[in-house]
Amino acid sequence: MQTWMPFLPERASSLSGKVDALYFYLSGVTIFFTLLISGTLIFFVIKYRRRSPYEIPRPIAGSHKLETLWSVIPLLIAMSMFVWGAQVYFEQARPPESPSEIFVVGKQWMWKLQHTTGQREINELHVPVGRKIKLIMTSEDTIHSFFIPAFRIKTDVLPGRYTTQWFEATKPGTYHLFCAEYCGMNHSGMIGSIVVMVPSEFDDWLSGNSSQQSPAIAGQQIYQSLGCVSCHGANGEGGRGPTLAGLFGGQVFLTSGETVKADEAYIRESIVNPQAKLVSGFGPIMPTFQGQVTEEQLLQILAFIKSLQVANPQPATPATGPMAPAPSAAATARPNLR
Ligand code: CUA
Repeated sequence: MQTWMPFLPERASSLSGKVDALYFYLSGVTIFFTLLISGTLIFFVIKYRRRSPYEIPRPIAGSHKLETLWSVIPLLIAMSMFVWGAQVYFEQARPPESPSEIFVVGKQWMWKLQHTTGQREINELHVPVGRKIKLIMTSEDTIHSFFIPAFRIKTDVLPGRYTTQWFEATKPGTYHLFCAEYCGMNHSGMIGSIVVMVPSEFDDWLSGNSSQQSPAIAGQQIYQSLGCVSCHGANGEGGRGPTLAGLFGGQVFLTSGETVKADEAYIRESIVNPQAKLVSGFGPIMPTFQGQVTEEQLLQILAFIKSLQVANPQPATPATGPMAPAPSAAATARPNLR
């Protein structure tokens, strides 16, 4: 469908109308003042042109009224842009409560995506209409940028860090996905498509592709095969590391006296650089797993740790909480997408 404005991409997300309204406002103000200033400039040049070589203009005294006016009006206009822009920014930067999560890993030169139910996709993402989707993104190599013009979202995807982005598609269809950050020779080929389906079709699509493991289950296997279990045991076995049940989303006390939130970035850092933030009461004995796990595996371990939520999460350091074994990890990991 062509919109009335050339080059304007379709609007297919809950945010796109808001981004466009702001964009039109900024353009409108810019066009208005460009015309006003250049118009008066031309008018004054003609009206006050020099009429004789000996002409001496009348001296002009300053006007405080005029100066106040032309300072206050631009201030109000600039503040309106700031407040409106901040509103739209906060809305798109803060993911809503309990969205469906999708992991995104960028690499030269493709997008690898995984649903929490296990389905993997490359350069293609299937999503249902009307559901809030949160992307947790990282890169295996250089900086990429995940750009869906029809949704009016674009976020950089950085190595060694998680960035997030959310959207809610409002219209079924197939939309462009671009990499919007120059990332090497085939940057221009790092493209794909977002397929937005009505929920029933999407559920069919999901069940038709359900052969793969969910990231939480895959993460649990990595957790076992790397021997994490020997220190971060289910019921305090080993006891050399903090228990992982109920960790995600809570507060962690560090030996430095600081308190940090156990979010995605904290957990990733604690795996690749365990000494960076030592949990209070534990020694610096954990080896780094940098290079031993890929970004996708890190995301799977993260999904596993997220799935280990206890009924009443304690904000404090390890308690003897019931650690969820494999089946309940699967049970909590799946309904996320429902
Ligand atoms: Cu990836 Cu440009």
